[in-house]
Amino acid sequence: MSTDTIGILGAIPQEVNGIINQLIDSKVHTIGNRTYYEGKLGQQRVVVVYSRIGKVAAAATVATLLLEFRVSKIAFIGVAGGIHPDVKVGDVVIATNLVQYDMDASPLRPKFEIPLLGKTYFDTDEQWSKNTEKQVQSILAIDNLHKVVNKEDLAPFSIEQPRVHMGTIASGDQFFSTNEQKENLQKQLPEVLCVEMEGAAVAQVCFEFGVPFIVIRTISDNANQEASFSFQSFVEKISLVYGREIINKMFA
Ligand code: ADE
Repeated sequence: MSTDTIGILGAIPQEVNGIINQLIDSKVHTIGNRTYYEGKLGQQRVVVVYSRIGKVAAAATVATLLLEFRVSKIAFIGVAGGIHPDVKVGDVVIATNLVQYDMDASPLRPKFEIPLLGKTYFDTDEQWSKNTEKQVQSILAIDNLHKVVNKEDLAPFSIEQPRVHMGTIASGDQFFSTNEQKENLQKQLPEVLCVEMEGAAVAQVCFEFGVPFIVIRTISDNANQEASFSFQSFVEKISLVYGREIINKMFA
């Protein structure tokens, strides 16, 4: 496969099925308990996969995309819980950088720093992220959004005019479902916009391999006691459409 293949991953089928359904000339490969869909989106060669949930699953999947499929860039797409008060369900967060909030080798190293790497924050590709911001803004413009998602599906989440945010995403192996978890993270890392379970692991592997990457997350819940209900219905009704539209726009 040529070196300009892009790896696209989500954590769960609902985050990538909308993209897999659009692939042209697709071939399926099973490696290490994952199914990789290789094909084309427009003129762009891609490999699409869902990693399953958590940092280990995501890191193993990214390593396979890099070593077996020789992808030269990685895009992670999925949902997240909103942490910052400005971030609402239905908004999209594009990471400028990512941090592993559950890494703590203190007192040997400062909390959140990855030991022996000496890094806490991993930067995404700046230009690719900025281009994506513009593309997502145009998808979320309300007249456009209503063309792709039913108004009735948006209403239960009170989604009216969703926004795009650029900033820090925090990742760790916990689903946030209490205010206590949320407030604890807000206190420790006040700049964090949203929380999820894979992005910063993808970021670390891409950094170590010197591969550019972006992380795009739609807010499915408010990372509090209603999170599990909101998450389930959001991924069933909305995230597949968001994922498909964002990726289509990227390769249009
Ligand atoms: N992904 C989507 N919602 C989440 C939450 N509340 N906690 C962790 N990851 C998430």
